[in-house]
Amino acid sequence: MLGYQFGLVGYPIGHSLSPWIHQQFLEQYKMDGTYELFEITPKDNFSQKLSNLKESGVNGFNVTVPYKETVLNFLDKIDESAEQIGAVNTIHCENGKWVGYNTDGIGFVRSLEYEYPELTQRKSSQILIIGAGGAAKGIYHGLMRHGYTNITIANRTLKKAVLITENDQSVLNLEEAADQLSSFDVIIQTTSVGMKPNIDQTVLSLQGLNSYTIVCDIVYQPLLTKFLQEAKLQGASIHFGHTMLLFQAQAAFEIWTKKNPDMTELASRLQLLLEG
Ligand code: ATR
Repeated sequence: MLGYQFGLVGYPIGHSLSPWIHQQFLEQYKMDGTYELFEITPKDNFSQKLSNLKESGVNGFNVTVPYKETVLNFLDKIDESAEQIGAVNTIHCENGKWVGYNTDGIGFVRSLEYEYPELTQRKSSQILIIGAGGAAKGIYHGLMRHGYTNITIANRTLKKAVLITENDQSVLNLEEAADQLSSFDVIIQTTSVGMKPNIDQTVLSLQGLNSYTIVCDIVYQPLLTKFLQEAKLQGASIHFGHTMLLFQAQAAFEIWTKKNPDMTELASRLQLLLEG
């Protein structure tokens, strides 16, 4: 019998770390399987490419930029949380039917609670999400699902934040957020600001931050972003972006195989890989 067939649909995906991560999971369970890159370019016929994939007998695959929304039209069923987020990053193929899930936000929350388990007892922590794009939306719903009740979104364009929270009490512009930093226990940076090559940029200044605050950045290239460097200078705890990548993959692998890979050493091994 052939082993598991997994993969990734997106464009461009040549530098994706997902094949490495899923290979580690397969090896952990000594499972026979592959995780391939199914790159679909904007010039390709997306629908045709997906039909080919269905015929190939793939067991499950991840979906990344720019297809997380487009792929909704090709599913037989959508999990409730993916529906709420309006985007899918994981598809499970069961008896010829495709079911869509979104593990991005849940992956972030798992990574955060793994590193800071005390948060699981503090669901009323004051949380600030910076940014209101797809990543922010997934994380917002992931936190809500895990029972966190006090979540504020700060964004340059206020109305995009309101679209996520569905109320204008829990949103701030970036200046207001910078002024109120000391009232947050957890701050999550979800914009692409600070990503290579713009490593000297930060979305807002962290002056005035409390040292008990946990500061997260979902950017992982570089791992220690300027934002995280500033947080460290203020004495705060930090949380690296590559862990979200690992835990969203863990949640996908669990959907496909019902196995829950051990993450003990993977974060430091991925860190070494990223640091070259
Ligand atoms: P993704 O889907 O990966 O989260 P996105 O949808 O492009 O990415 O969202 C990017 C987020 O980063 C948005 O919240 C964007 O702010 P706007 O809604 O005002 O556009 C934010 N962002 C990007 N560049 C920014 C910058 N230079 N300063 C502040 N916010 C920025």
